[in-house]
Amino acid sequence: MAPPWCLCWALLPALALALLGLAAAAGPRQTPALELAQELAEELWSAGLPGDLPELEPECRSLLAAFAEGSAALTGCLGRRARPVRLCQGCHGHYRRLLAQYDSIARAVGNSSESHNCAKSILTSDRLQIVVTLSEFFNETWEAANCANCLKNNSEGLSNSTEEFLDLFNKSLTCFEHNLQEQTIDLSPNNYTEVCKNCNDTYTKLNDLYNHLQRMNRQGGESAHSAHLCIDVEDAMNITRKLWSRTFNCSFPCSDTVPVIAVSSFILFLPIVFYLSSFLHSKQKKRILILPKRIQSNANLVNIQEKYS
Ligand SMILES: *[C@@H]1O[C@H](CO)[C@@H](O)[C@H](O)[C@H]1NC(C)=O
Ligand SMILES: *[C@@H]1O[C@H](CO)[C@@H](O)[C@H](O)[C@H]1NC(C)=O
Ligand SMILES: *[C@@H]1O[C@H](CO)[C@@H](O)[C@H](O)[C@H]1NC(C)=O
Ligand SMILES: *[C@@H]1O[C@H](CO)[C@@H](O)[C@H](O)[C@H]1NC(C)=O
Ligand SMILES: *[C@@H]1O[C@H](CO)[C@@H](O)[C@H](O)[C@H]1NC(C)=O
Ligand SMILES: *[C@@H]1O[C@H](CO)[C@@H](O)[C@H](O)[C@H]1NC(C)=O
Ligand SMILES: *[C@@H]1O[C@H](CO)[C@@H](O)[C@H](O)[C@H]1NC(C)=O
Ligand SMILES: *[C@@H]1O[C@H](CO)[C@@H](O)[C@H](O)[C@H]1NC(C)=O
Ligand SMILES: *[C@@H]1O[C@H](CO)[C@@H](O)[C@H](O)[C@H]1NC(C)=O
Repeated sequence: MAPPWCLCWALLPALALALLGLAAAAGPRQTPALELAQELAEELWSAGLPGDLPELEPECRSLLAAFAEGSAALTGCLGRRARPVRLCQGCHGHYRRLLAQYDSIARAVGNSSESHNCAKSILTSDRLQIVVTLSEFFNETWEAANCANCLKNNSEGLSNSTEEFLDLFNKSLTCFEHNLQEQTIDLSPNNYTEVCKNCNDTYTKLNDLYNHLQRMNRQGGESAHSAHLCIDVEDAMNITRKLWSRTFNCSFPCSDTVPVIAVSSFILFLPIVFYLSSFLHSKQKKRILILPKRIQSNANLVNIQEKYS
C-alpha cells in the first residue's frame, strides 16, 4: 500500500496544470499549444534547476506548437471526412501545411550551442519521438489513401481528371435524387425504371471515365499503390455502382449474359479446335515424313518415271 502523501504528490502536477490553464485563459491571446509549451518551460525555470537544462529555445517551442496544431487540424479533418470518403479533397491543404511544419523542425538547427539544436531536441532526444511517430502516421495514411494520385503534380489542388470525375459523380447523384423525388410523388416507391432511363447517360460517362482512369493508372507507375486510384474516387465509384446495380437494379441482365455466353461458347469450341488442328498438323507431318523417302530412293523415282512415261 502506498502511503496517502504519495497520492497528494501525484495529484500536484495535475493541479498545477489546471491552475496554469486557468491563469493562461485570462492572459493575452495565444495558441493553446504554444501557451502550454511556455508554461512547461516556465515551470522548469522556476524550479531553480541549473541553466544548461535542455530547455527548448523560444523559436523551437513555437515550431513544436505549430506542428501540434497542424496535426490536430489534420486529424480532425481526416476523421470528419472519413465517410463518405473525402480525405484527399478536403485535407490536402492541412497535409501540405503539416509537411512544411515537420520540414522546418527537421531543418531548424537553432542558433545557439550544439546541445540546444532544435531538430535534435524535438526529433531525437527521447525514446518515444512523438513528432516523428505522428509524421510517419500521417505519411502512411496519405500513402495508403493514394491521395497523390488525384492531386496535381505539385499537389496544389485536385488534378483535372479528378475534378472531371467528381463533377460527373455530383451530376449522377443529383440525377438520382431528382428522379427519385419525382417518383415518390406519382409512382410506386420501388419502381426505378425512370432513374435507369434518365440517368443512364451520366452513369455511363462516369463509369467510362473511371475505367479510363484505372487503365491510365496501371500503365503509369509500378509503385505498390499504383493498382489503386485515390480513395475519394474509388469510394465515389463504389457507392455509385452499388446504387446503380443493387439499389436501382439498372444493370440489365442481357448486357451481362452476352459476354458470358461468348466466353462459354469459346471454351466449348476449344476441344474441337484442338482436335481439328492436331488432325491437320499430323497430316502435314506425314507428308514431310514421306517426302524424304521418295528422294532417298532415287532409283524408284526413276522407275516410276519410266513406268509413267
Ligand atoms: C538567436 O536567438 C536569440 C534569442 O533566442 C535572438 O535574439 C538572436 O537574434 C538569434 N540569432 C540569430 C543569428 O538568429
Ligand atoms: C513524411 O513525408 C515527407 C515528404 O514525403 C518527408 O519529407 C518526411 O520526412 C516524412 N516523415 C517521416 C517521419 O518520415
Ligand atoms: C511531376 O514532378 C516530377 C518531379 O517532382 C517530374 O519529374 C515530373 O515530370 C512531373 N510530371 C508532370 C506530369 O508534370
Ligand atoms: C487543367 O485545366 C486547366 C484549366 O481548366 C488548364 O489550364 C490546364 O492546362 C489543364 N491541365 C492539364 C494537365 O490538362
Ligand atoms: C453538386 O455540386 C453543387 C455545387 O457545386 C452542390 O450544391 C450540390 O450539393 C452537389 N450535389 C451533390 C449530390 O453532392
Ligand atoms: C414502372 O413505371 C413505368 C412508368 O414510368 C411503367 O411503364 C412500368 O411498368 C413500371 N414497372 C413496374 C414494375 O411497376
Ligand atoms: C444505357 O445506354 C447504353 C448505350 O449508351 C445502353 O447500351 C444500355 O442498355 C442503357 N442502359 C439502360 C439501363 O438504359
Ligand atoms: C466497396 O464497398 C465494399 C462494401 O461496401 C467494400 O468491401 C470495398 O472495400 C469497397 N471497395 C473500395 C475500393 O473501396
Ligand atoms: C432486378 O431486375 C431483374 C430483371 O430486370 C429481376 O429479375 C431481379 O429479380 C431484380 N433484382 C432485384 C434485387 O430487384
